[in-house]
Amino acid sequence: MKKMQVAVLGATGMIGQRFVQLLEDHPWFEIEGLYASERSEGKKLKEVVKVKDYDFMPETLGRKVEQIDIKKIAKNCRVAFSGLPSDIAKDYEQNLADAGVAVFSNAGSHRMRPDVPLLIPEVNPDHLKLIEAQASYKNGGYIVTNANCSTTGLAVPAKALMDAFGLKQVIVSTYQAVSGAGYPGVPSLDILNNVIPYIKNEEEKMEEELHKMLGTLDGLRVKNPSFEMLANCARVPVHDGHLESAFILPTKDCSCEEARDAMRAFKPEPQKLKLPTAPLEPIVVREEVDRPQPLWDVYAGEPCRASGMTVTVGRLRKKDKYLKMFLISHNTIRGGAGGSVLNAELAMAKGVLK
Ligand code: A2P
Repeated sequence: MKKMQVAVLGATGMIGQRFVQLLEDHPWFEIEGLYASERSEGKKLKEVVKVKDYDFMPETLGRKVEQIDIKKIAKNCRVAFSGLPSDIAKDYEQNLADAGVAVFSNAGSHRMRPDVPLLIPEVNPDHLKLIEAQASYKNGGYIVTNANCSTTGLAVPAKALMDAFGLKQVIVSTYQAVSGAGYPGVPSLDILNNVIPYIKNEEEKMEEELHKMLGTLDGLRVKNPSFEMLANCARVPVHDGHLESAFILPTKDCSCEEARDAMRAFKPEPQKLKLPTAPLEPIVVREEVDRPQPLWDVYAGEPCRASGMTVTVGRLRKKDKYLKMFLISHNTIRGGAGGSVLNAELAMAKGVLK
């Protein structure tokens, strides 16, 4: 099979380079170009490496970054993966979609549009259909976004529990890694030896996004479910991996064992379709008293290509009718570039990306 040509936008940034990591040896996609701002024009990737826990291939390190050029991308690429900051992403992504490019974005700018799928293939694969409501769809162009990094980790177990028992209330507190703030992110003097109990707009995003993703499709609209959602978000001095403390009140009372079994048995569409970046197990439930932890669990996920794509749940307990747990997911892989690569794989498997 001839590989599909793809552009990486924001290739000098944290998420952009996770895209490069996941795409440089992808079975279906081939990187046509690395794009960023005019500041980076002509620099080789090896001069601007931000991802330091992965060895890029020598030929990738030697590739030059180019300034974003909508016409060139539209001419050469069927897909653009976007790791641009939200304020910058808005117009670039829309212009690319209007020019016939399928845009798979990590940026927040289009996420809450009613005609844009806010997609996690394990959670709401049917929402992909929303692209048909986009004006650019008739030319083959559209925008699909992945969710905010902290919402993604929560959404996967919440969906497994909702399918089994219904969802009445979700209360979450996050302990979010610094890589979630892009590069160079939070100044070291602010975060070392410290915890910052504020991440701009994060709590609102978690509350809105979880409702949209767990909503049901009614024609080409999403009908939000009615569960209550409360979030508190904090930044902690951890490199990668958002840990979250969650209290989940199901509609139908269940035991810890039933909740654990429902999460372990959760085998949604990407796993059935065997998408290349889908982890064999979307959720791992651990029994140890002190897991999950960023250092141990952030790279959960098999096979190798899906490393960082599994959500790890642990410390599952019950108090009254609440299920209490901690969960962790890799914020720049599962909750970032990996999520968007999986979205594109789903679109390809479903025949809307060809
Ligand atoms: P550049 O390095 O040329 O500024 P992060 O979120 O990790 O900071 O990454 C942001 C990414 O978005 C970088 O690749 C950055 O490129 C790119 N970017 C920022 N502003 C623009 C812009 N105005 N046009 C194109 N790319 C941009």
